[in-house]
Amino acid sequence: MAGGVKRFAVFGDPIAHSLSPRIHAAFSQQTNIPLRYSAIHAPAATFENQLADFDGAGANITLPLKSLVVPICAELSDFARRIGAVNTLSRRLDDHWRGDNTDGPGLIQDLVRRHNVNLYGRRVLMLGAGGAARAAAFALLETDIDSLVITNRTPDRAVALADALADPERVMTDTFADFRNEHAFDVVIDATSAGHTGGRHKLPLHLIAPTTVCYHLSYGKAAQHFIAFAREAGAKRVFDGLGMLVEQAAEAFNIWNGVRPETDAIYAELRAEAPLDATD
Ligand code: ATR
Repeated sequence: MAGGVKRFAVFGDPIAHSLSPRIHAAFSQQTNIPLRYSAIHAPAATFENQLADFDGAGANITLPLKSLVVPICAELSDFARRIGAVNTLSRRLDDHWRGDNTDGPGLIQDLVRRHNVNLYGRRVLMLGAGGAARAAAFALLETDIDSLVITNRTPDRAVALADALADPERVMTDTFADFRNEHAFDVVIDATSAGHTGGRHKLPLHLIAPTTVCYHLSYGKAAQHFIAFAREAGAKRVFDGLGMLVEQAAEAFNIWNGVRPETDAIYAELRAEAPLDATD
């Protein structure tokens, strides 16, 4: 701690464009809880040493470090243990780290509270079976959705994720070829990193109805091709993950400071700078 002000940081690689320092500065101002929050560039090879040198009270952990940090935690929340990934570290009194994961709760908060999506009895389709999909899937299954269908470029990974979710009554896997006889889903979540690699969407259009909620877990460029695809398919309610980013930060702030900040003001500010319709 420097001068009594608690210190926090986000570790990741890349990290230069992280919005987390700005979001936490806004929360600090709003709640009158002074803190310092910085972004630390941490490649996987040096992360553990960098974390050992860090004297802060807590940290956020982002790509590609979320699974790497798990064995460093002496204590894990149930949710972090189940998904095998940590995005929030809190220093305990005896100097060990506790790991939480606020990505899943952040997604649900954004869907339900900000976008008024009623998840009760909904049929949800998830694209992707990587780390982001895993957190989203576990969180969705904690709600009262009817079912979750997982589809992935590499089908075996979808099957492995379905097995890990251990909810065979509600979780299925499918390939695009199997979708011929499916009708439109209520919610489609893109949890792939295809946006970074510029892949084109091959999801059959009939799976999206005007009422289908389409949501990409990322924001900015990474989400744009999905947003455009969903609109072309006729979906009226299309969202990116900017709100999820703000909500996961609010959950982390609450873990560290015991206060959940109000999120609408900083969300509106960031949204105004990155409108969903922007093309660059
Ligand atoms: P993250 O932690 O962001 O989820 P990840 O664990 O590497 O990253 O997972 C990336 C996901 O995006 C995977 O589901 C991946 O599919 P594969 O399992 O087949 O690799 C998916 N993905 C990445 N690029 C893709 C593309 N061009 N088309 C379709 N899916 C893609």
